[in-house]
Order: sequence, then C-alpha cells, then structure tokens
Amino acid sequence: MTVEPAEKLLAPVLSAFWDDPRSWTLETYRRHDGYQALSKAFAMAPDDVIAYVKDSGLRGRGGAGFPTGMKWQFIPQGDGKPHYLVVNADESEPGTCKDIPLLFANPHSLIEGMIIACYAIRSHHAFIYLRGETVPVLRRLHEAVREAYAAGYLGTNIQGSGFDLELTVHAGAGAYICGEETALLDSLEGRRGQPRLRPPFPAVEGLYACPTVVNNVESIASVPAILQRGKDWFKSMGSEKSPGFTLYSLSGHVARPGQYEGPLGITLRQLLDMGGGMRPGHRLKFWTPGGSSTPMFTDEHLDVPLDYEGVGAAGSMLGTKALQCFDETTCVVRAVTRWTEFYAHESCGKCTPCREGTYWLVQLLRDIEAGKGHISDLDKLNDIADNINGKSFCALGDGAAAPIFSSLKYFREEYEEHIERKGCPFDPARSTAWA
Ligand code: NAI
Ligand code: SF4
Repeated sequence: MTVEPAEKLLAPVLSAFWDDPRSWTLETYRRHDGYQALSKAFAMAPDDVIAYVKDSGLRGRGGAGFPTGMKWQFIPQGDGKPHYLVVNADESEPGTCKDIPLLFANPHSLIEGMIIACYAIRSHHAFIYLRGETVPVLRRLHEAVREAYAAGYLGTNIQGSGFDLELTVHAGAGAYICGEETALLDSLEGRRGQPRLRPPFPAVEGLYACPTVVNNVESIASVPAILQRGKDWFKSMGSEKSPGFTLYSLSGHVARPGQYEGPLGITLRQLLDMGGGMRPGHRLKFWTPGGSSTPMFTDEHLDVPLDYEGVGAAGSMLGTKALQCFDETTCVVRAVTRWTEFYAHESCGKCTPCREGTYWLVQLLRDIEAGKGHISDLDKLNDIADNINGKSFCALGDGAAAPIFSSLKYFREEYEEHIERKGCPFDPARSTAWA
C-alpha cells in the first residue's frame, strides 16, 4: 500500500496559525485575513449566504454530518419570532479533542462564523454553550468576545451593515448528555439537561420554543474560510458527498497524538503516517473512527476512507472523527468496560432501556473482567445492547450499545478467554489499559 506523504495531505485551514504566538487575539486573526469573509457575507443577501454554504456541501462536524446550509434553510422566515444560533461547544465524546483546542487557539474564527450564520438565518442573539470544565478556554472565549464587541464586530450596526448581534457565552456544568442538542437547550434555559422529543426539531421549536440552529464549533468556524476562498476550493478537497477539510483527533498508543487537519476521506493509515505511526515496537489492535459511540474497527480497516460514506459502508459511523488507537497490549474487555461505565454514569435516566440497560451491561462486564463470568453472559450482553440500541430516547443509548456489538463481533474469543481462564489474560504490568 502506498501512503500519500503527509505534506501532500495536510490542508491546514482552521489550524493554520495555531502555532503563532498569541494566535487567539483579534490582532493575529486580522493579520491572517480574519473578518474579511464577514464583509463578503454582508454584501450578499441572507438567503444567498445560506444557498452558498449549502452549495459548498459543508456537513456538520459534531458527529451526525447533517448538511449545515440545509439546517439554516429550515429556519422559517417572516414568522415574527426571534431566531437563535446556539453553538454546541460541549465537546465530550471520549477521544474527541478538536473543538476545545480550536476555541483555545483561534476563537475569532468561531465568532466570525457565528456572525455570518446569524446574518443568514436572521438571528440577533447567539449563544456558545461551552464545556464548563475548560476554564482556560472559557476565559479566552470571554476575552475574544470582549475584543469583538470593542472592534464593532458584535453589538449594534456591525461594521455599518445595519445588522445587530448579541453573543452570550454560557458554561455548562459537566454533563455528557448536555451535548445532545435538545438537552443542551433545556440546560441553557436553566432546566435539568435532558433530551426533548424530536420532532419538533430545534429548527422549528428550539431555544425558548423559537426557531434555533444548533451547530458544532468546527462547522461554524469553517464558514469564514468557505466564503473567503470559495465553495469550489472547499469542494476540491475531500470526497463528493463529504467535501472539505476537517480536524481529526488522533489519540491512544500513537507516536505523536494530537489534532491533525486534512481533507475528509483520508484513511487511518495516512493519518498514522502523519502521527508517526503506532508507538515503537507495537501494532494496532483496534480503533474507533469517531469516539467510543461509534462501532470499533480493527487493523483490517486501516484503508477505510474517513468520510460518512466510507466509514458507513464498512459498518461504523464517522462521528466526531476521534481516532482512538489501541495496540496489542490493550485488553478489549477492559476498554469496553471503561466506556460502558462512562455511559452508565452519564445516562440521564429519562428512558428505561438506557438507564437500566447500561447498569446491567456494567455488571456483566465487570464480572467477566474479574473472571466471574459465564459463557451465557455473552448472549446476555448482546441481548441487553439490542434492547438499548434504537429503543432509547436519544443517541446516548445507541452509543453505549456500539462498543458491545463491535467488540463481540471482532473479539469474541477474548471475552471467552476471560471466562475460560477466570480472569484477564493480559499482564496488568504490561497493559496500559489497566488504570
Ligand atoms: P441527528 O442525525 O438526529 O441530527 C443531526 C442534526 O440534524 C440535528 O441538529 C438535528 O436537529 C438536525 N435534523 C435532523 N433531521 C432534521 C429534520 N428533519 N428537520 C430539521 N432538523 C433536522 O443526530 P444527533 O442525535 O443530533 O447527533 C448524534 C451524533 O452526535 C452522533 O453521530 C455522534 O457522533 C455525535 N456526538 C458528538 C459528541 C461530541 O462530543 N461532539 C458527543 C456525543 C455524540
Ligand atoms: Fe437519557 Fe439515556 Fe434515554 Fe438518552 S438514551 S434520554 S441519555 S436515559
């Protein structure tokens, strides 16, 4: 297999000047053509901005890949109600670390994208719902918003355009479920964060029961570059149905973990090439394409294109593009147990399949891991996951079931070995999965 050289693949756009000293300031952002796309947007009619973003093919970067321009188009116009833009910065999917670094390094790309999006959907109040534990990011974001107000990019009559926008930064209290868009809206309204029934989707009835666009940080931060450099430039990268550049989070047993920017549709083999490969002397055993909520892959899937179609056809989901790579020292049962404990802890308790099912999955997995499992437990694991998957109120339930199904599919013999040997076959001293 020929691997494209890393420099041919790298297309730093969002991360282009993260290494600049004081990359997060307005001064640096302007030096790199910041806020020029906004002038272009203001010269267009709002509907034309929506059509342009739709034509670019930009798909939501939060995990689901829903077309961004189409979401903006759903906002009814002339309805007499306020419209809102809410940016989901509650990044919490295990292994996902791209929105928070983006906000830390270059918050103005998000602010500029938000002004453009609000102008397009005719919203005059926008919110950023930030993962509250990231206090340094919160401080940096507040400072960037202050700079933007002071420079006339926020507030009334922005840059003489006649367009007004207020921007509020809100810190969440650290619940994974508040990354689910409707739970996020409930939390933002001051209620306990639990998912709402959809439909109605937020585009029809969102924040304060008004039409609301909820977009991921990376999706909105990508908009200025699309307007500035053109939709054809954007479409020249990636694949036909998944165009453009994106941020990948590469983590685990790799030589150089971190954020890597490149076109959609590249492969893990190519990303690993950029990241220096697996740590020396070790080989890839399993990995996730989009955090633990997406079914895991093995070393047989190194050449699956990391776009919505490629990963989908291979039996998983692209999700958040969080590539967690585990080498042969990792006990898969241990890893799945840890993930399942996370889901059981974060289950909001609203629906029975997820609330009860994740609890029972953890009990069975802990027994198997401790050498107290029975071979019939494997069918029970499968049954419980089956009763959660597609039968829960929100996507958290499906996410909890995903590692169970895929680990049983690819590593059933490792579960059986735990049961037959009455304990974990991995040497705790060697395995980094033993924490
Ligand atoms: P979804 O596919 O149900 O919806 C995607 C978006 O499209 C939503 O904003 C929704 O409101 C909108 N939408 C869909 N159909 C619509 C319609 N008919 N009319 C108007 N709007 C419509 O996906 P969901 O449940 O919002 O998100 C699940 C994804 O979130 C998963 O794929 C997972 O990868 C990702 N995720 C990301 C996390 C993170 O930390 N970034 C954490 C956990 C999950
Ligand atoms: Fe809550 Fe889980 Fe049900 Fe989602 S699937 S509503 S997180 S209990």
